[in-house]
Amino acid sequence: MAVSIRRRSFLSGVGGALALAAVPGAGFARTAFGPAPGVIKLNANENPYGPSPKALEAIAEAATRGAYYPGPTVRRLREMVAEHNELTPEHVVLTSGSIEALFAVGAAYSRHGRIVAPALTFDPHLRVVERTGGEVIRIPLTTNMDTDLAAMERAVDNTVSMVYVCNPNNPTGEEIDAAALRAFCNRLTPTVTVMVDEAYNELTDDPVASSMVDLVRRGDNVIITRTFSKLHGIAGLRVGYALAPPHLAEVVARHAMTQPNLLGAAAAIASIDDEAFLNYSKRKIREGRELVSDVFRRHEVPYVQSRANFVYGNIGRDAEAFRARMQERNVYIRGIYAPYTTWSRVSMGRMEDLEVFARVFSEVYGA
Ligand SMILES: Cc1ncc(COP(=O)(O)O)c(C=O)c1O
Repeated sequence: MAVSIRRRSFLSGVGGALALAAVPGAGFARTAFGPAPGVIKLNANENPYGPSPKALEAIAEAATRGAYYPGPTVRRLREMVAEHNELTPEHVVLTSGSIEALFAVGAAYSRHGRIVAPALTFDPHLRVVERTGGEVIRIPLTTNMDTDLAAMERAVDNTVSMVYVCNPNNPTGEEIDAAALRAFCNRLTPTVTVMVDEAYNELTDDPVASSMVDLVRRGDNVIITRTFSKLHGIAGLRVGYALAPPHLAEVVARHAMTQPNLLGAAAAIASIDDEAFLNYSKRKIREGRELVSDVFRRHEVPYVQSRANFVYGNIGRDAEAFRARMQERNVYIRGIYAPYTTWSRVSMGRMEDLEVFARVFSEVYGA
């Protein structure tokens, strides 16, 4: 009986897939690829200026070779990422989005001890660690909404295997002082590994100074994760990576299941050196950041100075209800990140979308 039930649901699944395949392309594409028409999507820190024209060309060409596994393309990208960071390919692990690298590290280390992390940070990988039996010690931010490095350091004892820091932090956008973070790593890495999530590093004023990659070069117990989802504008193509000394890169690789697909790797290769596109994106993101910060200032909404492609403000009311009311007007922002129930995060869209956000925010906030 159980078998026949499973078989029936399997067949209806196949039928569903076939029915979907029969949907004519254009109508399906509009609603299924990215935000629906009319929706202003400011809730996932994407870069709507991407993919770059060069990446689009590469994707089209790579698609014709989609019959083949992406090995050689991924190897080429690995060499390029290594060269960009003055590392060897043995320091680089490419994954399907950086979330896979983050989770791989979490899975590896949580078997050997507890993980220390800020209480408000990007944490889907930490939640999976908890669901699979690992333990995460979450350290509250300071009253200024900063990552509390001193309190995190105090929480490290011999039951801790790894410390996770996100710089700039998500959802706050706070950039941690590089000298303080470097000193923190220097004190901790003789006994634990520090993972620094640098998803938004390229959006800071001085990405080289802000990065901890020099510690990776030196062979310290530091793992950095980065992504092509943000500045490079290919979140949908899922390309991320970890940078680590070879002995730790091997650990990451052993715990990661997926690598980038052919189209994502081709797009990343095409945009990694595309300075014109990257500079343009950076400029537009900064303009957008200023526009959203200005909206918050005009409404006297306290906000964190952001060095990323989003701004986090205290709207002083239930952020989930506010999100829903904005969504009714087709503007999608983030609701609550517990326990900060009155704070809301707004990602950068195109400038014209942010103008709409400014108008709708004023209406809903003032209502
Ligand atoms: C801080 C941070 N790290 C990692 C990720 C995951 O990005 P991806 O898996 O697309 O590389 C995100 C996504 O929003 C993020 O904000």
